[in-house]
Amino acid sequence: MSNPTAAREARALSVLMCRPTYFTVSYSINPWMHPENPTDTSRAIAQWDALVATYRELGFEVDFIDPLPGLPDMVFAANGGLVVDGLAYTANFRYDQRRPEAGAYAEWFAGAGLTVADAQFINEGEGDLLVVGDAILAGTGFRSTTESHAELAGLVRHQVIPLTLVRDDFYHLDTALAVLDARPGHEQIAYLPSAFDAASLEVLRSRYPDAIEASEDDAAVFGLNAVSDGLHVVTAAAATHFQAQLAERGFEPIGVDMSELRLSGGGAKCCTLEIRRHPSTSQMDPFAE
Ligand code: ARG
Repeated sequence: MSNPTAAREARALSVLMCRPTYFTVSYSINPWMHPENPTDTSRAIAQWDALVATYRELGFEVDFIDPLPGLPDMVFAANGGLVVDGLAYTANFRYDQRRPEAGAYAEWFAGAGLTVADAQFINEGEGDLLVVGDAILAGTGFRSTTESHAELAGLVRHQVIPLTLVRDDFYHLDTALAVLDARPGHEQIAYLPSAFDAASLEVLRSRYPDAIEASEDDAAVFGLNAVSDGLHVVTAAAATHFQAQLAERGFEPIGVDMSELRLSGGGAKCCTLEIRRHPSTSQMDPFAE
């Protein structure tokens, strides 16, 4: 039997983040959001600052996009697009309240020297598009459409694998599934089985037979909304059983408190967009001469 803890390897990530200067819950586009309840913007900022400090301690390169007034969800940088192999596939938001964020992120991508591909179809970036090995796991059901998955497949060398979400409290793929090891040949994920339809579950079980199945309790505190460098896994502090499962597999869990951001339906991963400037796939370049 293979040793599930073998060869964990940290790879410092490059990430983009957006300070929650204008964070609040003023509309409701997911079941976590209750505009009638108060939010504490300074508390959100303090939690976000602690997340930035955690990433810096891990040696991550952290870049920032300027927050814009009137866009309270812009803090959720994961939704700003998908950056893979130096290509930035832009977000195209489902709900009007967030649509203006897409242009701001696209501008940042262009300014960072990335090739920008404008999405024609509804998708919410890394919220629903998770790179693992040579594949991109692509969520649909609530936000991103299967048309966007097909569009993305035409732009990248990764295989795009659609997965259907069925629970509105886990409306983005990154709330129900965490990529723990993205290296081709070492793929490891964790997910909440009840968040997926039967066909998607079958795909997950056959591709990732060693995956961690997370508990309802850990998923409910957004434990799966996690960021992994291959060794360290930044996850919700309250996801205690998930942290034990990670440790059993040789990962080093780091708990962070994102409870204020959770009032908008987000956690650590939602606040974090990975910037992959260089090719990561193990595949031969099919376009090479
Ligand atoms: N309030 C935001 C929304 O509903 C939260 C986004 C969370 N982001 C994420 N990547 N899951 O759109």
